[in-house]
Amino acid sequence: MSDAFIVNGHIIDPANNIDEIGDLHITDGKIAKIGGNGKLADDQAADVYDARGLVVAPGLIDMHVHLREPGFEHKETIATGTAAAAAGGFTTVACMANTSPVIDTPEKIEQIYNIASETAKTNVFPFGSITKGLAGAELTDMRGMYSAGAVGFTDDGVTVMNAALMRDALALSAELGFPIMVHCEDHNLNAGAVMNLGEASRKLGLIGSPNAAEDIIVARDIMLAELTGGHLHVLHVSTAGGVELVRQGKKRGVHVTAEVCPHHWILTDAEVEKQGANAKMHPPLRTQTDIDAIIEGLGDGTIDAIATDHAPHALSEKARGMVDAPNGIIGLETCLPLVLTYLVQPGHLTLAEAIAKMTVVPANLLGIDRGTLSVGAVADITVIDTDRVNRVDITRSRSKSQNTPFSGWELKGWQALTFREGNRIQVSPSSE
Ligand code: DOR
Repeated sequence: MSDAFIVNGHIIDPANNIDEIGDLHITDGKIAKIGGNGKLADDQAADVYDARGLVVAPGLIDMHVHLREPGFEHKETIATGTAAAAAGGFTTVACMANTSPVIDTPEKIEQIYNIASETAKTNVFPFGSITKGLAGAELTDMRGMYSAGAVGFTDDGVTVMNAALMRDALALSAELGFPIMVHCEDHNLNAGAVMNLGEASRKLGLIGSPNAAEDIIVARDIMLAELTGGHLHVLHVSTAGGVELVRQGKKRGVHVTAEVCPHHWILTDAEVEKQGANAKMHPPLRTQTDIDAIIEGLGDGTIDAIATDHAPHALSEKARGMVDAPNGIIGLETCLPLVLTYLVQPGHLTLAEAIAKMTVVPANLLGIDRGTLSVGAVADITVIDTDRVNRVDITRSRSKSQNTPFSGWELKGWQALTFREGNRIQVSPSSE
């Protein structure tokens, strides 16, 4: 038996409505006891971590990460991406299917599990793609991939433009219960676009994508979820209209859930002028009106989860400039401090609400046995120092890539310790 204790911490476990000072006793990688108020560990115990003044939460879960392996190992690998995850306080990530080759068969799902079991610092759960090769023409063997351990299906990075295929994917979701995770941008409306359509794109002389490009697909897919009874999950919502459509869908009883990423509720499209391609992603940064709507949606429960869309790209690729650089930014190491600094400290979410959106909620959406500190649960734990102030030093990132618009930002509230199955996998944040 191996025992460890985390004592005197402020335990916040939204899954069990726990918000109190106390201790955790971990035995053989599982939570054995919770409570005790500083008295659970005897002085002789081998591993005792004093968490006085720190928050002890279930291990954070990021349900939207690009790990790039296989095929794009110059950007990231499962080893480096999960090292960045652990440094950011994440113990579980779900990885996207837009690798090369695309994750579109049961064998490829197994391959991700195999590589992860050899090299990953955190738990890794793969998504399979909805269409073969992300080509939008033919559905994959979702039944087979689901049996092989896929936790959902997505063509993230591109939209499935064929509504009949989306209907059929959602019909299978209704039968088997997995989520269909949708990237919402009408490819005809955003043809050639490299940023949001608005004042900033006109000033810079760049092609912009209107909010309508996103809203039309969100509306379509909510209708198809209503038609079929399938579970639709809207990835990285960026528009006020998208938030409102999800809100109305939920009111009508449609099985629709949604996530947002920090960059979409912190930065506007004006950032493109300052940061160039490090502020280029799909969907793009929008306006303050959209930010206000996303924050309102987080607060009223319309938006279920917070995810990063961690999308590493090499420096040389991002250096190609706004028109030619690939889309996306990294996010695993800055997500928690951005959530604490920009959502919790201003009072938009309580700490428990924010933790729920990064633990039990994504666990339930993906049907995985994580995200709680219940007795008997796997001891994946994140200890958070809500008072620590650090500047983001991207040169210290564990990711292979450094494409972030948050470099140099001073943020308050960082991961302090990360435990996976009771073992410490990360001690201090990447940035000092
Ligand atoms: O900006 C993005 N980058 N959005 C996506 O949906 C895909 C991602 C990527 O794979 O780089």
